[in-house]
Parts: sequence; C-alpha cells; structure tokens
Amino acid sequence: MKLPENSTLLIVDDNPTNIKLLYDLLKEHGFRILVAKDGQSAIEKLEVANPDLVLLDVMMPGIDGFTTCQIVKSNPKYQDLPIIFMTALSENENKVKGLSLGAVDYVTKPFQPDELLARVNLHLKLYHLTKELAEKNAHLHEMNELLEQKVEERTSALQKAQTQLIFNEKMSFLGQLMAGITHEINNPISFIDGNIKYAHDYVIELINLINLYQKNYPNPVPEITEKIAEVELDYLMEDLLNLIVSMKEGTKRIAEINQSMRAFSRSDTQNKFLFNPHEGLESTLLLFKHRLKANEIRPAIEVIKKYDILPEINCYPGSLNQVFMNLLANAIDAVEESNTGRSFAEIKANPNQITICTKFDRENERVIISIKDNGIGIKQENKLRIFEQFFTTKIITKGTGLGMTISRHIVEEKHGGTIDFISTPSQGTEFTVKLPIK
Ligand SMILES: Nc1ncnc2c1ncn2[C@@H]1O[C@H](COP(=O)(O)OP(=O)(O)OP(=O)(O)O)[C@@H](O)[C@H]1O
Ligand SMILES: [Mg+2]
Repeated sequence: MKLPENSTLLIVDDNPTNIKLLYDLLKEHGFRILVAKDGQSAIEKLEVANPDLVLLDVMMPGIDGFTTCQIVKSNPKYQDLPIIFMTALSENENKVKGLSLGAVDYVTKPFQPDELLARVNLHLKLYHLTKELAEKNAHLHEMNELLEQKVEERTSALQKAQTQLIFNEKMSFLGQLMAGITHEINNPISFIDGNIKYAHDYVIELINLINLYQKNYPNPVPEITEKIAEVELDYLMEDLLNLIVSMKEGTKRIAEINQSMRAFSRSDTQNKFLFNPHEGLESTLLLFKHRLKANEIRPAIEVIKKYDILPEINCYPGSLNQVFMNLLANAIDAVEESNTGRSFAEIKANPNQITICTKFDRENERVIISIKDNGIGIKQENKLRIFEQFFTTKIITKGTGLGMTISRHIVEEKHGGTIDFISTPSQGTEFTVKLPIK
C-alpha cells in the first residue's frame, strides 16, 4: 500500500494566506502538494496531477467549491477520490451540503494543524485501502470466472467421456456377445456342413445298392415285399434325397448368417477398411429379423430395399454398422409406436414400412444411404434436440438418448460425412447419411 506521506494532495483555494498555511504544514509532512486557485483550474489539473486527495475551499470566485465537487464526482474516474471541504466555522449548513455532494469530510477554518493532518491521513489511508480492495476484488472475480470456465470445460469433457464409455461398453458387450455366439455356432455348423456331403454320397450309394438288389432279385421273400410296401420305398428314397438337399441348403444359410454376424462383431472401430455399406445394412437387418417379423399385435414390418450399385468405401465398418443399427432401431420403435390404438387388421391394411435406399453419387464421390419409416414422426418442438446427448422420448428402460449422438459423431467426426433427417409428425421420418468414398 502507498504510504500517506507519498501521496499527492491538491489544494484548491483562492486565499493566498490559506494556501501558504496549508502548503507549509503538509509539505513538512512529506506530501506532494499541488495548488489550484479556482474551481476551473482544479478540474483541469486533476487530469495531469492525478492526486490522492483534494482539499477544496467552498467560497471561491468563479465556480464555487460545491459545483467543482459536483463536476469532479460526475466523472466515474474520480468517484472514489476523497474530497475534503474547507469551510468557515459558522457555515454549518455548508458542511451538510458538501457531504451530500460526495465529499468525505470537512475541516473548519481556522485550521487546527493536528486535526487537519489526522483527517487527511485517515482519508488517504481509507482511499488506498478501498482501491486495493477493489483491485483484489476484480482479480478475485477474474479468477472466479476462470474457475467457472474450467469447471464447465471439465464437465463437458466428462460428459463426453461418459458417453464414449457407455457407447464403448454397449459396443464391446454386443461385440463380445456376438463373437461368442458365432464362435459357438461355428463348430457344430462346420461339422454338419462337412459331414452332410458324405451323408449325401452314402445315401446315393445305398439307393443304388437297393436298385441293384431289386434288379437282380425282382421277387424277394414276402417279408421284404411287405416291408417295401409298408415304408413306401419309392417315395422314401426320393424324399430322402430331397431332405438331404434342403438340409444342405439350410446349413449353408446358417453358415452365411454366422459369417455376417462375425463381420458385424469384428471390433474394427479402430481401423479403416474398404467396405461395402450394403454388407453392413444386410448384416444389421439380419440382427433385427426377430424384431421385424410378425407377432400377435402386428404383421411383419415390411422392409423395402432400393439398392443402387455401391462402390466399397474407406471406413470403419464396425462403427458404420453401429449407425445402421441405431437408425434401424429407431425406425422400428417409431413404426411400433404408431401402432398404438390400431388393430391387427388396420395395421395390415396400412402396413409398417421401412424403406432403405442407397445411391452412388459419383459426382461428389460419396454414397447416400437413407432409412425411411412410416412411424410416428418427430414433433416440431423435438426436432432441434434429436442429436442432443441423453435426449429421448422413450421410457427409461428403452432409450438412453445416445443413439443419435453417437451416430452423428461416427458419421461426421469419424467419417467426414453428414447425417440429417426430415420428418412429419404422425407420417414418418427419413434419416439420410452421406459418406465420402475416401
Ligand atoms: N425414426 C424416428 N422416428 C421418430 N422419432 C425418432 C426417430 N429417430 C429418433 N427419434 C427421436 O429422437 C430421440 C433420440 O433418438 P436416439 O436414438 O438418440 O435415442 P433413443 O432411441 O431414445 O435411445 P437409444 O440411446 O437407445 O438410441 C428418440 O427418443 C425419438 O424421440
Ligand atoms: Mg435410438
């Protein structure tokens, strides 16, 4: 803190005797002294002198002390500058008026040197303390703002990390589950698939053998003739072959499903691959088969595919599948919600539909994938919030409100694409994903 003795005082008085008196007294105590002989020059001096305190005479020619005080105090810069009025002992109402105009104190003439010094010192001290306090406050305020900003940053970073965590957990759980299932299915499938070929060959050999018997021994013993009639041998032989052929077909299908589940579950959210989005769409559809098929409430949800010929795109297949999964899950939820209050027959007449459309936009070197549903649609007031973290209109067990947040992150930040939608309440919604090929 500045010591009172190093302070600058401005004396404003028109009386040379007074000035001399004050000057000598204050100078002696180490103050820097400036003098103004009237109000006008005092105001002008303020700017350059920048005093710490003003001693102001009330009665002066030109503008008097009160007006001078008013003008000085109207400048925000000098609002806290201490002004001490100097009044004659008799001018009692002046003291009150001076204080009401913003002066901090008054001294009466003729001066008592000790009293004057004491008052000057007191107000200088107060002035410097106040100034210091204000600076500290401002600093504190700044620190506080900085702190608040930091807290905000941390909170949002934390939220992001949390989202990522939930997402990763969801994904890795799903991925692990599927990897486990496909692995388990893989073994029995491969020995069925491997053996069925031999079974087929052996059955053909057996049939040939029976045919050979029948050719060489056209009249077997009655027991055999009876048995042949009982088992309807001709039909049995024909059907057995058909059965084996369809079992072969079925096994092949299971193997394919397993293959695409494997493709879906591979955790290549870390590496970019060349990948045909159709492969992702198909394996995702496969996963949703159980949700799409008919149940007691509604007929099957119709899936209409309008596929263009797509090139392979350079992408993170695991992440893209996640986007397709989120879009498809939302579309299914939306059509199912639109069924509320409709009978099976009504739904059948106006069936739930999901249309998947793909397009190769050669000109802009990108692929466009849209998933459209004829579900409940999105209310106007919700449209701006769809991609918001944790925004959901679904019951707590059903929706976390992360699907679209994550999808947008994957499409826009991970792949440099875009995702947007159009929706009409109670008619349906169409989400469109545009992905650059490279
Ligand atoms: N196809 C759609 N039709 C109607 N509303 C939709 C559709 N897709 C998204 N919405 C709305 O957007 C909200 C947010 O979707 P988002 O996928 O992010 O979360 P969610 O489906 O509620 O939960 P989850 O985290 O399980 O996906 C949904 O709750 C729903 O209100
Ligand atoms: Mg969702």
